[in-house]
Amino acid sequence: MSVPTTASSGPVVRAEDVRVWYGTERGPVRAVDGVTFDLRPGEILGLVGESGCGKSTLGRGLLGLLPDGAKMDGALEFRGENLLTLSKRELAERRGVDLGMIFQEPLTRLNPLMRISEHFRETLRTHEPGLSKAEMDRRALDVLRRMGIPPTRYRSYPHEFSGGMRQRLMIALALVLRPAFVVADEPTTALDVLVEAQIIRILHDLRREFETSLLLITHNLGIVAEACDRVAVMYAGEIVEIGDARQVFSDPQHPYTRELLRSTISLSTTGLHYIPGAPPDLVEPPPACKFHPRCPDAMQVCATRWPAPVQLPAGSRAQCWAAEERNRLIRLTEDERRPLERRELSVADEA
Ligand SMILES: Nc1ncnc2c1ncn2[C@@H]1O[C@H](COP(=O)(O)OP(=O)(O)OP(=O)(O)O)[C@@H](O)[C@H]1O
Ligand code: SF4
Ligand SMILES: [Mg+2]
Repeated sequence: MSVPTTASSGPVVRAEDVRVWYGTERGPVRAVDGVTFDLRPGEILGLVGESGCGKSTLGRGLLGLLPDGAKMDGALEFRGENLLTLSKRELAERRGVDLGMIFQEPLTRLNPLMRISEHFRETLRTHEPGLSKAEMDRRALDVLRRMGIPPTRYRSYPHEFSGGMRQRLMIALALVLRPAFVVADEPTTALDVLVEAQIIRILHDLRREFETSLLLITHNLGIVAEACDRVAVMYAGEIVEIGDARQVFSDPQHPYTRELLRSTISLSTTGLHYIPGAPPDLVEPPPACKFHPRCPDAMQVCATRWPAPVQLPAGSRAQCWAAEERNRLIRLTEDERRPLERRELSVADEA
């Protein structure tokens, strides 16, 4: 899928070694543990990984929406400006206009006493004060139409809509401001296939017209394959592989990516494959490669030395000793290459 941008345009978002941890009685939960990526104008990046790998934490952290008690460090730039030095108020001002978020729970921000038209007008009035009422209505009706909501519903109240429609309303409200960067956290989980298709279409429209960049968090690898330019695979707080979506899906370099792909249902799948074990406890994750207790390819080196992220010849970036050796970027010793015996695996896997 081509990205409508020029080589000279810099990234909209640049994250470098971003870390987020939650303070708990047992110690810090390292939910995001050194994440680096950038996002170009108009680009759609899919973020995938099992439950608890830190996807929502990363998405919220990028928009300054972490709960109290969460800490974040690293470098995070939006159009060259360091977001981590902004005050809460400055960040709130950026949100809506520049930074948008589509949440999973649609009811939270709709006021039951306000008509849908008023929700749109208030949002637009707050962030784009110069617009006339007619212009506000035109913008609102346009985005509603794209979401499959007829203009006759413009004067309705939130409770008059079904759950799926309310979700579409929330998405329309986030997108009516044409933000430069949107995080969509599982926007399609509760939706039917038709709505899913509408959302994907509107996201494509937006990026074509306004170069909106999107971080799309989802468990649905089919959506990533269909809608995303690049994909980032997250495991235990780290991006273990990132690259062109088609490339990564057709030739995954990291064993976790491969296992994740194998565990999804497809038409040709006869039995469902599960990755053995579960993602680790993020207070005390396994040492070195955090995936080693579950990895079918694990070697001695994997349990003792952390594999740094490396750019691979195929174009993706991955952090895996086996991928580095397969691509002839390193040569492991016989000892390092010796397969890890099951009994040598960390107890973190035994649950
Ligand atoms: N407020 C919090 N306090 C303490 N730990 C938290 C908090 N929120 C999330 N976590 C922990 O941080 C880790 C990452 O959670 P996160 O919700 O970001 O994962 P996720 O990849 O979005 O999962 P899912 O696919 O289920 O939405 C998990 O171990 C989770 O238990
Ligand atoms: S570094 Fe080793 S354990 Fe980790 S994913 Fe690669 S092969 Fe598996
Ligand atoms: Mg989540």
